[in-house]
Amino acid sequence: MDRLIVEGGQRLSGEIQVSGAKNAALPILVSSLLSPHTCVLENIPDVVDVRTMCQLLGVLGATTSWDGPRLLIRTETLKSHEAPYALVSTMRASILVLGPLVARWGEAIVPLPGGCAIGSRPVNLHIDGLRALGAEVRIQHGNIHVKAKRLKGARIAMEPSSVTGTENLMMAAVLAEGVTVIENAAREPEVADLAAFLIKRGARIQGCGTNTITIEGVEALNDGDHHHRIMADRMEAGTYLIAGAVTQGDVTVHLPSPDLLDDICTTLHATGAELSRNHGSVRVTMDRRASAVDVTTGPCPGFPTDLQAQMAALLSLAEGVSLVTETVFENRLTHVSELRRMGANITTNGNQARIVGVDKLSGAPVMASDLRGGAALILASLAAEGETIISRVYHVDRGYERIEGNLNTLGANVRRVKSNNA
Ligand code: UD1
Repeated sequence: MDRLIVEGGQRLSGEIQVSGAKNAALPILVSSLLSPHTCVLENIPDVVDVRTMCQLLGVLGATTSWDGPRLLIRTETLKSHEAPYALVSTMRASILVLGPLVARWGEAIVPLPGGCAIGSRPVNLHIDGLRALGAEVRIQHGNIHVKAKRLKGARIAMEPSSVTGTENLMMAAVLAEGVTVIENAAREPEVADLAAFLIKRGARIQGCGTNTITIEGVEALNDGDHHHRIMADRMEAGTYLIAGAVTQGDVTVHLPSPDLLDDICTTLHATGAELSRNHGSVRVTMDRRASAVDVTTGPCPGFPTDLQAQMAALLSLAEGVSLVTETVFENRLTHVSELRRMGANITTNGNQARIVGVDKLSGAPVMASDLRGGAALILASLAAEGETIISRVYHVDRGYERIEGNLNTLGANVRRVKSNNA
C-alpha cells in the first residue's frame, strides 16, 4: 500500500482547481437507479469512493463508462437488488442504494455497515424512515432486507439530522405514493445538489437547504437522458486553504460558488489569515504564525466535521490555546495521537481536544486512520521540519483526487511510494 513522503518546510503558493464533490457525486450516482434513463454526469471526481460506487452499481447491473471527465450510467438492465458485503464494508455510503432500489424494484438487500474508525455510525434513521414509508424491513444474517410494493408518503422526523439518511429517504420518497415530509433534514449543500438533479429529472421536491424537505411522489421520472454537473468539493477546497495557512503561504482555490467556503473562511480569518473572494475563487494569504481559535463542529450550517482534523493541524502550530470540540461523530480525534508524534501538544477529554500551539512540528512516521485525519497529517507534515512518512494513504485516496500532484503544484515536496506493508 502506498505511503507519502513529505519533506516539510515549503511555503505553498499558487492556484488549484477544485474537483467535484465526492459527497454529492456518491448519492447522485446512486440516484441513477431510480429510472431506466441514461445519466450523464460532469465533474465527477476520480477518487476511490467513486470507483467503489461504480463497482457497486455494476454488481447491480448498471453500466458506467467514463467519457473524458464525464461519467455515463445506464440502468435499463438491472439484474440484482443485493449489495455485496465486500463493497459495503469498504464504503459506508453504499447504504444509499437502499432507498432507490426499493423505490424502483420493490426490494433491496444491503449488509449492515459495521462501525468505522470515527465511531459506531448507526443506520437506524435510514431503516426507521423506510419503515415509516411503509416498507417491510428485516435484519437477518447481518443484512438489511427491505421490501415494499410501492412506498407511501409519510412524515419523518430525523434525530439527529443525517446527511446520507436524508438523501436515502428523499430518493425513496421520489417514487412513493403521496407526500413525504422530512423534518430536521440535513441542510448540507450536497443534499441540495442531489435534489437539484432529481428535480431536473421530474421529481417534486421543495425545501432543500432548509430543515424541512417536502417530496411529492411521482409514478416515474422523465424520459430522456439526465444531465448534471456535480458541485465543487468544499472539503477539498477547505483542505487546500488550510494548507496555505499552515505553511504561511498564498493559495487560491477556484470553484464556481465560493460562498460554499464561508464557514471555513470565517474560521481561517479568525486565525489571522487574509481571505479574499471573487466570483470564481477564494485566496488565502498568511504572513505570520496563526492565532488560536476555538472550533466546534456541527451539522450544516455549523463548522463541518470533515474539516475539523485539518483545522487541528493548523492550530497545533498556532500561538495560544485552542479548544476543538467534535459534536457530530463520537470518535473523530484519532489524528491527535499521530499529531502528538510530530510534537503537537494536544490533550483530549472525550470529544474535545485542547491544543496548546507549539512553534514547530517535526517530521515523523505517522499513520492515517481515516480520510480527513489522513489529510490533517499531510497538512501538519507540510509545515513540519524534516521528513514525514504517512502510511495508510488509501484512506486519503478515498476522497482526494491527485493530492500530492496538487500540493506539488503549489510548491510542496511530496512523493508517493509503493510499499508491501500498510
Ligand atoms: C456524511 C458524509 C461525511 C460527513 C457526515 C457529517 C457522505 C457520503 N458522507 O456522512 O463525509 O462527515 O455526513 O457531515 O456524504 N446517525 C444516527 N443514525 C443514523 C445515521 C446517522 O444516529 O441512522 C448519526 C451519526 O452517528 C452521526 C450523525 O448522525 O453522529 C451524523 O451522521 P450522518 O450525517 O449520517 O453522516 P453520514 O451521512 O454517514
